[in-house]
Amino acid sequence: MSERMTALVTGANKGIGYEIAAGLGRLGWRVGVGARDDGRRAAAVERLQADGIDAFGVPLDVTSDDSVAAAARLLEDREGRLDALVNNAGITGGMPQDPTTVDVDVVRRVLETNVIGVLRVTNAVLPMLRRSAHPRIVAMSSGVGSLTRQSASDDPLSVGPVAVAYSPSKTMLNAVVVQYAKELAGTGVLVNAACPGYVATDLNGHRGVRTPEQGAAVAIRLATLPDDGPSGGYFEDAGPIPW
Ligand SMILES: NC(=O)c1ccc[n+]([C@@H]2O[C@H](COP(=O)([O-])OP(=O)(O)OC[C@H]3O[C@@H](n4cnc5c(N)ncnc54)[C@H](OP(=O)(O)O)[C@@H]3O)[C@@H](O)[C@H]2O)c1
Repeated sequence: MSERMTALVTGANKGIGYEIAAGLGRLGWRVGVGARDDGRRAAAVERLQADGIDAFGVPLDVTSDDSVAAAARLLEDREGRLDALVNNAGITGGMPQDPTTVDVDVVRRVLETNVIGVLRVTNAVLPMLRRSAHPRIVAMSSGVGSLTRQSASDDPLSVGPVAVAYSPSKTMLNAVVVQYAKELAGTGVLVNAACPGYVATDLNGHRGVRTPEQGAAVAIRLATLPDDGPSGGYFEDAGPIPW
């Protein structure tokens, strides 16, 4: 791969997304830092550039059609091609989320970000991914989206708390990944879901036990898969996760 590879990482201003951008940057990639807040995006780009990374800012709110369309135009004008999209932006919607008492607006909001946002961004940049010789799409899922694991355990450390918005949003995200992989089979676009493990970030009040850099590794691996790599899979560092 002699040409410079370009990635877009959503929610890259902090946490795992920032470290995915940094990790791809260290591999020599140019990285679009997708972030909705101007100040947080500029600070992240500045920090990455100070570390020698070829980063640029992409204003991006994954819940907004207009914002996503503008981000796609920016990438089209600036790069014209995209080699990897890492759909990392996500929210929990806040806890508790017991099914019997949940505010359904919370469920709607979480699905809008964690699932519809991924569809919106992916479809907006897909024409640019199709111009890549090695296009890759990664969806940042979670092990809490595994119905097999949810059915086998009540241990919050392995399947999170009871959460009727967040966990099912990742289950649906996994299902969306499978559908993309089926439609895009044979096109060279490889689409996979990743679980970063339990990572200390703002998302969980820094209760996670892994570093954001450790959490980023699986997404970086899936964004840089060889052409004969898997598609339609669900992976953590240790290997495939049962659906
Ligand atoms: N931490 C864990 O243990 C863990 C475990 C499994 C999966 N994950 C997944 O990993 C991903 C990253 O999480 P994290 O732990 O790094 O959380 P985080 O530190 O809270 O970062 C989340 C990122 O998503 C962005 N974001 C949220 N809504 C957005 C929107 N509408 N448009 C654009 N960006 C938006 C946030 O931007 P703002 O700064 O503007 O809010 C932030 O950059 C998420 O998908 C999460 O579900 C995390």
